[in-house]
Amino acid sequence: MAHNVARLAALAVGAICLGGAAQAAELNLICSADIEVCGKMVQNFEASHKDIHVNSVRLSAGEAYAKIRAEARNPQADLWWSGSGDAHLQAAEDKLTMVYKSPHLDQLKPWAQKQAKISGYRTVGVYAGVLGWGYNTKIFDEKHIKAPKCWADLLDPSLKGEIQIADPNSSGTAYTALATLVQLMGEDKAFDYLHKLGSNVSQYTKSGSAPIKAAARGEAGLGIVFQHDAVTEKVQGFPIAIVSPCEGTGYEVGSMSIIDGAQNLKTAKVFYEWALSAKAQNMMPAAGSYQIPSNKDATTSDKAPRLDDVKLIDYDFAKYGSGKMREHLLSRWTREIGNGS
Ligand code: G6P
Repeated sequence: MAHNVARLAALAVGAICLGGAAQAAELNLICSADIEVCGKMVQNFEASHKDIHVNSVRLSAGEAYAKIRAEARNPQADLWWSGSGDAHLQAAEDKLTMVYKSPHLDQLKPWAQKQAKISGYRTVGVYAGVLGWGYNTKIFDEKHIKAPKCWADLLDPSLKGEIQIADPNSSGTAYTALATLVQLMGEDKAFDYLHKLGSNVSQYTKSGSAPIKAAARGEAGLGIVFQHDAVTEKVQGFPIAIVSPCEGTGYEVGSMSIIDGAQNLKTAKVFYEWALSAKAQNMMPAAGSYQIPSNKDATTSDKAPRLDDVKLIDYDFAKYGSGKMREHLLSRWTREIGNGS
């Protein structure tokens, strides 16, 4: 009798092990970095967390915000990693993201901790990136176009149809450019500038890094982007020169936010703490991304544009990440620039 019971028990255990092989835990991730970077960083995470399977989607920052807002009653995503911080701040203001204070906050640089603080700890800084542009030196030489050093130079008629920039409704990069110009020139002068710039813009792209990919491949002359995205193309061997505008420029605090009501909160926190670690942030250059890392112990690639080397504006993240301001600027851009494009 005992023999049979033992046999049955062994069979039961076998069935559980075979039939119900330990299921990997899930994580539904929205990634707003470059699509190749998203893929490589998710691979890196899964390689060191074999018990977690990541379902990730790449969305530009504005698109990600719109998705999280639309799904607020039934969140499909658990974590939003990367993408310019303004959209993360608006999501935080809307309470679409969860208050979470990482035990590793003190390992982060002041600008990353400030991003968390101004959001009520509903987001946190993971990297910084300086706005500027990259242009195709081959095209500029062939067409004898003078290299633009200042925002004002981008209005030169010699650049007609040569410039690409993203649509700020979808792209965090382009929203950073819009908010930067407003802070540099004042709102009305900035929109007058954008209207004139429009004569030189061949396309308003969906994603922020598309303009520099087009310039690298000769499909455009110049892309207004984060400078590290231009570095990504340059290190691949494309004829790209990178410029920090002489009048001054803005920057992004790439951010990370846990979605309020996340179905997989446990795995979201595991990825969150991993993404804040120096180990993970040191993987970004190999993934093709040259931002400035937020962890004090992470190494900034020698290819990353330095915040100190550039004339930066004192970018008011709280103001330009507020829902009221972001909606106002986006609707004015759509009315006065986008519709005319
Ligand atoms: C690129 C940059 C990131 C930035 C992101 C924003 O991936 O490398 O630093 O956060 O663009 O993307 P978006 O499409 O929203 O402009």
